[in-house]
Amino acid sequence: MRLPFALSISTLVVLATANPLAKRAAIDDCLSSAAVPVDKPGSTDWQQDANPFNQRLPYKPVAIVVPKTTEHVQAAVSCAAKVGVKVNPKSGGHSYASFGLGGEDGHMVVELDRMNQVTVDSTMQIATVQAGARLGHVATSLYQQGKRAFSHGTCPGVGVAGHALHGGFGFSSHTHGLALDWMVGATVVLANATAVNCSETEHPDLFWALRGAGSNFGIVTTFRFNTFAAPSQVTTFQVNLPWNSASQIASGWATLQNWVQTSMPSELNMRIFGSGSQTQLQGMYYGGTGGLQSAISPLLSNLGASLSNAQATDWMSAFSYYTYGQQVDVGHPYNQVETFFSKSLVTSALPTNVLQAAGQYWVSQAKPNQRQWYIIVDMYGGQNAAIPKISADTMSYAYRDKLFLFEFYDRVAGGSYPSNGFSFLNGWVNTFTSNLNSSQWGMYINYADPTMNRTEAQQNYWRQSLPRLQQIKAQVDPTELFYYPQSIQPAK
Ligand SMILES: Cc1cc2nc3c(=O)[nH]c(=O)nc-3n(C[C@H](O)[C@H](O)[C@H](O)COP(=O)(O)OP(=O)(O)OC[C@H]3O[C@@H](n4cnc5c(N)ncnc54)[C@H](O)[C@@H]3O)c2cc1C
Ligand SMILES: *[C@@H]1O[C@H](CO)[C@@H](O)[C@H](O)[C@H]1NC(C)=O
Ligand SMILES: *[C@@H]1O[C@H](CO)[C@@H](O)[C@H](O)[C@H]1NC(C)=O
Ligand SMILES: *[C@@H]1O[C@H](CO)[C@@H](O)[C@H](O)[C@H]1NC(C)=O
Ligand SMILES: *[C@@H]1O[C@H](CO)[C@@H](O)[C@H](O)[C@H]1NC(C)=O
Repeated sequence: MRLPFALSISTLVVLATANPLAKRAAIDDCLSSAAVPVDKPGSTDWQQDANPFNQRLPYKPVAIVVPKTTEHVQAAVSCAAKVGVKVNPKSGGHSYASFGLGGEDGHMVVELDRMNQVTVDSTMQIATVQAGARLGHVATSLYQQGKRAFSHGTCPGVGVAGHALHGGFGFSSHTHGLALDWMVGATVVLANATAVNCSETEHPDLFWALRGAGSNFGIVTTFRFNTFAAPSQVTTFQVNLPWNSASQIASGWATLQNWVQTSMPSELNMRIFGSGSQTQLQGMYYGGTGGLQSAISPLLSNLGASLSNAQATDWMSAFSYYTYGQQVDVGHPYNQVETFFSKSLVTSALPTNVLQAAGQYWVSQAKPNQRQWYIIVDMYGGQNAAIPKISADTMSYAYRDKLFLFEFYDRVAGGSYPSNGFSFLNGWVNTFTSNLNSSQWGMYINYADPTMNRTEAQQNYWRQSLPRLQQIKAQVDPTELFYYPQSIQPAK
């Protein structure tokens, strides 16, 4: 009788260590003793907070903490370390790989979207932004408090934290840089549950690491961002591109590229948008329609294209123009979702053979594809762009010298993403990477691709910054409390 009993105990022990969800009772006890607010499993809040933006990648948390203060975050981190579960902060929940849920089952999720205050200080220069604020709320609040702004993307539901800790490109970035270029300080809860302020002068190594790889080093509870005066007038516009054949794409793109490198004015912000139904330039110009006309006409005459829908407007109307009818000032609950696979690229200027291969793929593989795919190519660098003006070693974000930022996106309107879908975007990206060396391209973790293994992902996201990031990881989080499948591995 003793032998079977002993066996069943050890079987239970093995199950408990193998299955992190088995730690639920211990973690719940610890959080309850520390009076940390949590979502009750099965409650509406739990369902909303655990529901991923990318429905393709649902994961089961062991606990969902909903802090109201930095102290709550500290207590939650301390409980997770004690019980031995991994922790991930979630702000807007828009990670393409569901990394805010941990990217696998059994993590503690620190859901920050109830902490979303935005306050501009009395100098009208520095904004204090709680980490759970979404971009639409940030833009609205900054504008209301003195017509201020900083650079960031236009999807109103994206969280400021995931966005600004890993880049943050939008319709201000050619003029004013990335969201992380405007960060001047952050309050961070580290793996040992201490809260520190970091900036250029306080914990500068941590501040260097946060700006490009922030999800690996702690939980930011509050940001301090510098701001600029929102321009009184901006002009939104499109240009329909006559890109029907592979050779039209290759030659039009070469013309565009040359202009972006040498002549595109700083006040112009622009991207290529291609889908099954259209191929166009979309943009925002800092100024009126006359200024836009003279800024862009040298390009358009070479492209054989013309301006359409040029509309001068105010700052917030331009922001909502590019949200395509979505509500701008959003908070909790946020219920928008999609089912998709996405990939990214950041590249140097492209040689002719790459433009030809990519154009050929666009025409032969993408245009006939009936799913709801799109490609966005942001005019990112060049002579007059803000991003390359910051020195490459200022922060861990790895791409100061590139010309284009790409997002490849393939979604289904209903049902599940097809298992044979991945090869479509993998093949398109391959037309670039197979013809370039690794100093000419990288990938952007804000458009995370979880199909890459950890070694490949770290190299592609962080390139030359990776060794120093791994050193800092070894100092501040050696046991990898803040882990996800593509997170930075500590240096040995
Ligand atoms: C519809 C849509 C449009 C987009 N448009 C753009 C765009 O125009 N430009 C652009 O650059 N990107 C864009 N993105 C990508 C977006 O910037 C990233 O997905 C971003 O990481 C999302 O941040 P989040 O806080 O919403 O996500 P989350 O899933 O909450 O977090 C993303 C990552 O950041 C970590 N994280 C979250 N909060 C914190 C914190 N407080 N402290 C430390 N780490 C934290 C998470 O653990 C996770 O690893 C878009 C995404 C979507 C879905
Ligand atoms: C961080 O700085 C803020 C604002 O200056 C201050 O209120 C807060 O107490 C500081 N926190 C820590 C942990 O030093
Ligand atoms: C990569 O290619 C570029 C452009 O051809 C070249 O200048 C550079 O030296 C190459 N780098 C490496 C590491 O091969
Ligand atoms: C990771 O993926 C790359 C590229 O596919 C491959 O070369 C490498 O062997 C893989 N590494 C591991 C550890 O699986
Ligand atoms: C917590 O970790 C940080 C970063 O490694 C370190 O500077 C600090 O001294 C640690 N605090 C405690 C109380 O151990």
